[in-house]
Amino acid sequence: MTSHETGYAAERAVLRHHGDVDATPGLVDFAVNVRADRPPRWLRDRLAAALDALGSYPSAELDARARQAVADRHHRHPDHVVILNGAAEGFALLPVLRPRLAAVVHPGFTEPEVALADAGVPVHRVLLAAEDGYALRPELVPADADLVVIGNPTNPTSVLHPAEVLRGLARPGRVLVVDEAFADAVPGEPESLAAAADVPGLLVLRSLTKTWALPGLRAGYALGDPALLARLTRHRPPWPVGTLTLEAVLACSQPAALAHAAELADQAVAHRAELLAALATVPGLRVEAAPRGPFVLLRVPDGELVRAELRRRGMAVRRADTFPGLTRDHLRVAVRPPEVAGPLVAALAEVCAEVCAQLRPGVAARVEVRG
Ligand SMILES: Cc1ncc(COP(=O)(O)O)c(C=O)c1O
Repeated sequence: MTSHETGYAAERAVLRHHGDVDATPGLVDFAVNVRADRPPRWLRDRLAAALDALGSYPSAELDARARQAVADRHHRHPDHVVILNGAAEGFALLPVLRPRLAAVVHPGFTEPEVALADAGVPVHRVLLAAEDGYALRPELVPADADLVVIGNPTNPTSVLHPAEVLRGLARPGRVLVVDEAFADAVPGEPESLAAAADVPGLLVLRSLTKTWALPGLRAGYALGDPALLARLTRHRPPWPVGTLTLEAVLACSQPAALAHAAELADQAVAHRAELLAALATVPGLRVEAAPRGPFVLLRVPDGELVRAELRRRGMAVRRADTFPGLTRDHLRVAVRPPEVAGPLVAALAEVCAEVCAQLRPGVAARVEVRG
């Protein structure tokens, strides 16, 4: 291996770090942004009832029904829908579009960059700044980027970008990928572009993983113009997604499931408000940006030490220094019900006070808290 290759391998390993590595069994998990530890009963029952169908290949008819259900849910034509093995499959497919220059907005989910860089696509990192509240500054996106990737709401900052600003990134000859893996956790999905059939080159990726606590299944879908979807999926194998994935997408797109998701999104907002109020009392800790997703990005003094101390107390939070643009003092915390989050905030208060006292006696009392 050349030193360049070794450098890339090391950087790739960092970019491929995910919260599940931080959340070792036995710890209370604030590291993984999945809403619960298992799917709701009705969804498990539905999947269990489909097990006998595993005796046949996934049917084109079920695929069509799943795409129709997604299309109905987002007011699109079924030809604008492709069912995926999670949003992650959508990222893995991007290199087949043969972009000449990809712009990936950071801090953001790192898998799109890994997929593109692995395929030899030049990647420009668009780094948003804490001073701007991690708001998107469109002028930072290179004019010649023919592929742009951004998350909305963005993991890990939890910032929700205005749909109008995202629309403004579309250009003739450019594919605009909006990762909406967390969009269903925002009540009413006000900034979603899932229904926007009028934006040229737009590819919206959605996930069932987070709200439905379904990471083990791999289920999501892409929404876009049929010609773009055909290019994206041209090298997929036959029967690209399994019957249970199709069944889950169909089930989670029904009106009753959408009503359930809406309730869960409202609940997440209430839990987040309680969490933010509690965090505001923790000296030395700052909430970065205004969170709109089911997780918050924190900045603490000596994040590595704080994280280790929390682990000692039985709690896992996500290190965030693996996201380009963030530091070892950034931590990401999933929104959980107050009875689960309360002990975390208490532990953070204790640990931050200790760390602040060690770093600079007296600093704990003076550190700014921003909500
Ligand atoms: C922002 C974001 N997008 C996409 C994904 C992947 O979603 P899926 O599980 O549907 O592949 C994740 C998973 O962590 C994520 O955080």
